[in-house]
Amino acid sequence: MMGKKIFSGVQPTGNLHLGNYLGAIKNFVELSNDDSNDCIFCVVDLHAITSKQDPIKLKDNIRETVATFIACGIDPKKNIIFNQSSVSAHSEVAWLLSCVARMGWLNRMTQFKEKAGKDKEKASIGLYSYPILMAADILLYDATHVPVGEDQKQHLELCRDIAQKFNNDFGVDDFLKVPEPLIQKEFSRIMSLKDGTKKMSKSEPSDLSRINLTDNEDLIINKIKKSKTDPLLLPSDVNELKERPEAKNLLGIYSSLTNSSLDKSVKEFNGKNFSEFKKKLSQVLVEKISPISKEIQKLINDKGFLDKILLDGHKKASYIASNKLKKMQEIIGF
Ligand code: TYM
Repeated sequence: MMGKKIFSGVQPTGNLHLGNYLGAIKNFVELSNDDSNDCIFCVVDLHAITSKQDPIKLKDNIRETVATFIACGIDPKKNIIFNQSSVSAHSEVAWLLSCVARMGWLNRMTQFKEKAGKDKEKASIGLYSYPILMAADILLYDATHVPVGEDQKQHLELCRDIAQKFNNDFGVDDFLKVPEPLIQKEFSRIMSLKDGTKKMSKSEPSDLSRINLTDNEDLIINKIKKSKTDPLLLPSDVNELKERPEAKNLLGIYSSLTNSSLDKSVKEFNGKNFSEFKKKLSQVLVEKISPISKEIQKLINDKGFLDKILLDGHKKASYIASNKLKKMQEIIGF
């Protein structure tokens, strides 16, 4: 069988966390280890500026995201790693596709509603049209599969709709490839350590709500110690977790890190108290995250190395993207 063409992106907004890792980057690494796949991983800096960024911090965060990819296990020699703004075709195709996408489709996007909040009138147009840029990212590279966390599912459905409409409108069957989302069945949505009903997120003000991939051992242990639980003992049956979001989230994190099922983890900790479970959870977290954190710290000091990776990635990505853009322009009639 032919390999997959993988494309995915991560915003360089700092504080990459356990949700990014377990929901997406862990999957990037597995896919990139399969030599039959072609993988492109993009630092989506154009997406990042949909909310205000400090220009100096943004530059550092772009490099830190590259460092995180590598520290997690993505080989920059075998895979394309680049930043979105270095390939101007992304912005151009986003415009072309924004003439295909419909207002009604965008109005349904729940992430915009959540992020814009009550003050929708003051949100940037970029925040609103953000999923169109995301579609441009994917469609420029003929990606067949897009690994993401659960929160990006709706954006991928929109991308599929846009591709199909473009192909129909211009009578170019299969010109834009309709991509498949790759969302893990379990643990595709890691929740906040302070509230099991809220997504773990880099924009949450409390740092105690997430494990950052740059946290050291002490921080990890402390955050797990302080994480929210409930007054009961750990359950004997997975079904009991429905009403217990914090227990479900912590057991989910444990399962994902140990490559186990939720069912198996529930059996392992059946009837135990949280403090015992938290000790074990901290241990597996430290084992997994500490080496990543140390490697990120090491890599971010080598700006030259990271910039070279971005430059190589830029050259390779530009070549693919400019060819696709050219064909698209011809189809449109330019
Ligand atoms: P971003 O930067 O918010 O997140 C990067 C990846 O991490 C996943 N993720 C989570 N998964 C599980 N639990 C969580 N709490 C959690 N938080 C984040 C996200 O689902 C994502 O896969 N729009 C995208 C970036 C993007 C992109 C693309 C992705 C731009 N263009 C093209 C794929 C293809 C975003 O903002 O991700």
